[in-house]
Amino acid sequence: MTTEQPIIETKEATIDFNGLVAVDGVNFTMKEGEAIGVIGPNGAGKTSFFNLLTGLFFPTGGKIFFSGKDITTVPPHKRVAMGIVRTFQLVSVFDSLPVVDNLILSTNRINSDHESRGAFFFGDAHRQNKVEQCMDALKLMGIENKAQLMTSELSYGDKRKLELAVALSLNPKILLLDEPFAGLSDMEICEVSQIIQEVKKKFSFVIIEHKISHIIDLVQRLCVMHEGKLIAEGPPAEVLCNAIVREVYWGKEEGLTCSV
Ligand SMILES: Nc1ncnc2c1ncn2[C@@H]1O[C@H](COP(=O)(O)OP(=O)(O)OP(=O)(O)O)[C@@H](O)[C@H]1O
Ligand SMILES: [Mg+2]
Repeated sequence: MTTEQPIIETKEATIDFNGLVAVDGVNFTMKEGEAIGVIGPNGAGKTSFFNLLTGLFFPTGGKIFFSGKDITTVPPHKRVAMGIVRTFQLVSVFDSLPVVDNLILSTNRINSDHESRGAFFFGDAHRQNKVEQCMDALKLMGIENKAQLMTSELSYGDKRKLELAVALSLNPKILLLDEPFAGLSDMEICEVSQIIQEVKKKFSFVIIEHKISHIIDLVQRLCVMHEGKLIAEGPPAEVLCNAIVREVYWGKEEGLTCSV
């Protein structure tokens, strides 16, 4: 019998901030190519869970595996090089750089091959090739005409798109998006959602989002966090009918009925 290796797996993952247990014994498994949504009330531990997966924090208990390899204490930049790529809840780009340089910088930073770094700075052909790749990522997000602007001049929505372009240009094997629609207009949500729908076929994908309606068509499975624990998971329709989920997510009254 062959068992499919999970792309990412946590065993009893825990982070305890001096008594505040933000992630509490989470067992999470994701198959390659899966698309998962993580939902839960404010303070449930969703971002902290991403921080553990990406190495921003190391767990105080439990283990994290990537393609079967124990990465519990592997630092963030090495995880990015392995293909674990994220975006942040608060948009995170360099305002003082031209837009395209945000992409060039991040793709270069994860490249540990010094020859290739040298080639980037001193070799025109290499730099040109890199710039073209970065322009493709900007094109995908529909902001290629803003490539030479200073990033500080971009609207908030365009900064979100730039952050996503940076993430895509890092060749993710698993992409973790922390509330990518936060602060976007309805039209921008629609645009970004369509792009995610298209590109997510190329990798495994986890998205944190408060508004379930925004992700229901993007994911195959929903995981619900509450007070640091993973309290439910499964196909969206099933999870949304779970009485405990309805109670913690929408309040006691809603826990009683389900019309999904
Ligand atoms: N670095 C930290 N130090 C101390 N406590 C933290 C730290 N990071 C998060 N927390 C706490 O851990 C809990 C979970 O926070 P987290 O940001 O993971 O929740 P969340 O589900 O992402 O919430 P939201 O939906 O509001 O983004 C919160 O009580 C938060 O205050
Ligand atoms: Mg959060």
